[in-house]
Amino acid sequence: MADGSDLMDKLVSLCKRRGYVFQSSEIYGGAGSVWDYGPLGVELKNNIKAAWWRALVHEREDIEGIDAAILMHARVWEASGHVAGFVDPLVECRVCHRRFRADAPEVAKQVCPVCGSKDSFTEPRLFNLMFKTFMGPVEDEASVVYLRPETAQGIYVNFQNVLSSSRQRIPFGIAQIGKAFRNEITPGNFIFRTREFEQMEMQFFVEPGTDEQWLEHWKAERMQWVQSLGIQPARLRFHEHESGELAHYAKRAFDIQYEFPFGWQEFEGIHNRTDFDLKRHQDYSGKKLEYVDPVNRDKRYIPYIIETSAGVDRTLLVVLADAYREEVIEGEPRVVLALHPRLAPIKAAVFPLVNKDGMPEVAGRVHQLLRHAAVPSFYDDSGSIGRRYRRQDEAGTPFALTIDGQTLQDETVTVRERDSLRQERVGIGRVVDYVRGRIG
Ligand code: GAP
Repeated sequence: MADGSDLMDKLVSLCKRRGYVFQSSEIYGGAGSVWDYGPLGVELKNNIKAAWWRALVHEREDIEGIDAAILMHARVWEASGHVAGFVDPLVECRVCHRRFRADAPEVAKQVCPVCGSKDSFTEPRLFNLMFKTFMGPVEDEASVVYLRPETAQGIYVNFQNVLSSSRQRIPFGIAQIGKAFRNEITPGNFIFRTREFEQMEMQFFVEPGTDEQWLEHWKAERMQWVQSLGIQPARLRFHEHESGELAHYAKRAFDIQYEFPFGWQEFEGIHNRTDFDLKRHQDYSGKKLEYVDPVNRDKRYIPYIIETSAGVDRTLLVVLADAYREEVIEGEPRVVLALHPRLAPIKAAVFPLVNKDGMPEVAGRVHQLLRHAAVPSFYDDSGSIGRRYRRQDEAGTPFALTIDGQTLQDETVTVRERDSLRQERVGIGRVVDYVRGRIG
């Protein structure tokens, strides 16, 4: 088994080789810390998002979904505290003009990590992490807009709209998935920290006084969901934020951390945001954001919010790092992505054992059966059967279906399971149900 940075290098290289993740604008030398998802990557990402949406929106009565725009009124970010508070203190090297976080170890040593100059740093200055641009043709202060640094605010400003257009009553939640942008000073570790990323966020509105209990509820629910993706429990843990770590909006916060090849790091947060956000939006917009209890109309309050906030890209990195295995099977090395079949981009690969005797025609028929049933299938007739298995093991395909001499006699195919390597014969008429039944 590979370790640490070696494992990260292997993952990055597998991702490129198999079409999971490519560096953005690679033919121009790449755009810094921005990544594109390839044919398999986009399927894996969509499958993660679909699993999240299903668990939170489709399987529950008490959560509604929305899709708010990335661009919002600039006042939103004043109200949210991001204009004043979403800042990192930075120093600049007076010689090479590169900027570094003031708390970086090199800065403490007073040596520039880029040009090596000594004692060349400026005093720390606050740097806002939001990307700023202009709406419309005039570039002045009145037309400033920001690319959202979190999707949550799109939910808060729609709280009354969802409440009045749905049948929800408190406690209830609003969920959304979408892009967010942060001008990170120290991006890195592949898709772990980037400047453009996607979030899956759910804001659960509760009566003040019940917030601690709901925080515990959502901690348990979210940990259970992560484990339902097949992630090894021993590599998961909670980390509670100490007072110095808490975001400006949070009363209490827990991260779900994963033991990445580069150490324990957060990929999802569960936060008690109190009534901070709705109160601020009420003050800044002048619009009432109170909840009126439908039974006792004298009972009015600004709801507290329990937030669950997961990064799609980081969850995808968790899934990939957790699934990566190097094994030796009967003296032959293999790399396998042991992805949960529900998340695997391709569910089944179809191979004719040889390219003659009518096997390619039957294999083509099986492949089309799967495709028409919306089960992503991959047809491969090139190279030895062993090589074809290995390619699909690396791509994370859970089932390989081989059409051989016996198929021509009895209409059965050999199904080989990726992780256990178990093989069994299944009738062509049952192949679609067989694969579907095991995807979950
Ligand atoms: N709405 C709350 C919020 O945004 P956060 O802890 O700043 O909280 C939540 O971010 C999640 O978003 C993180 O756990 C992480 O998965 C993801 N995330 C945040 N910044 C990221 C970045 N620069 N690159 C990739 N993912 C990021």
